[in-house]
Amino acid sequence: MKNILAPSILAADIANLGDEIKKTASAGAQYLHIDVMDGVFVPRLSFGQCVVESIRKCTDIIFDVHLMIVDPIKCVDDFAKCGADTITVHLEACKDVTATLKKIRECGCKVGLSIKPATKVEEIIPYLEYVDMILIMSVEPGLGGQKYMEDATGRIARTRELINERGLNVDVEVDGGVCKENLRMILDAGANVIVSGSSIFKGDIKKNTLEFMKILKEAERA
Ligand code: DX5
Ligand code: ZN
Repeated sequence: MKNILAPSILAADIANLGDEIKKTASAGAQYLHIDVMDGVFVPRLSFGQCVVESIRKCTDIIFDVHLMIVDPIKCVDDFAKCGADTITVHLEACKDVTATLKKIRECGCKVGLSIKPATKVEEIIPYLEYVDMILIMSVEPGLGGQKYMEDATGRIARTRELINERGLNVDVEVDGGVCKENLRMILDAGANVIVSGSSIFKGDIKKNTLEFMKILKEAERA
């Protein structure tokens, strides 16, 4: 399975966002992770449709939009029009999870479903047939720079097991506290799409991206 890096712009220097995106994309990152927060599902606000629309003009990289908002079905169409390629919603935030996932598909985007650390992995089972990706949060959503929660590793492995048992082709994405030191363990547990904010955008973006990509490629070959 192909391993993918999705740098999260939450940790980028927003005043230089276009340049920072180009640096990580030219060093090999395949996705760009965009965290959308509504101040309700999570305490803070972050980016909205305008930002997605604006950065769409400066790069062809795949936009992996993570909606941390209540009742996301209302915004799916709009984010698709603004340039999202994949839209991930939270199981905990949807009034009707299946309808929301179907709506994402209808809009022509890839479909992602995320669960918070306290949600049982088995809760995703009824929705596996509707998704392209499951996003396992390895921190409480809402803030960058937090520490990876160790029990996420078992949750990743269980997710991969549930997917494989059903013979499905679904990506497992991990978001929160991923760094060079824990990356290989996370990949070995069964994740193949890696979100990282601080460990990519803080410091030398090109060097950080190249180091992440090296580990992703090594794990792919193993
Ligand atoms: C947290 C966000 C993450 C965040 C990850 O709610 O969903 O995407 O940017 O940042 P790091 O890698 O710094 O934990
Ligand atoms: Zn995220």
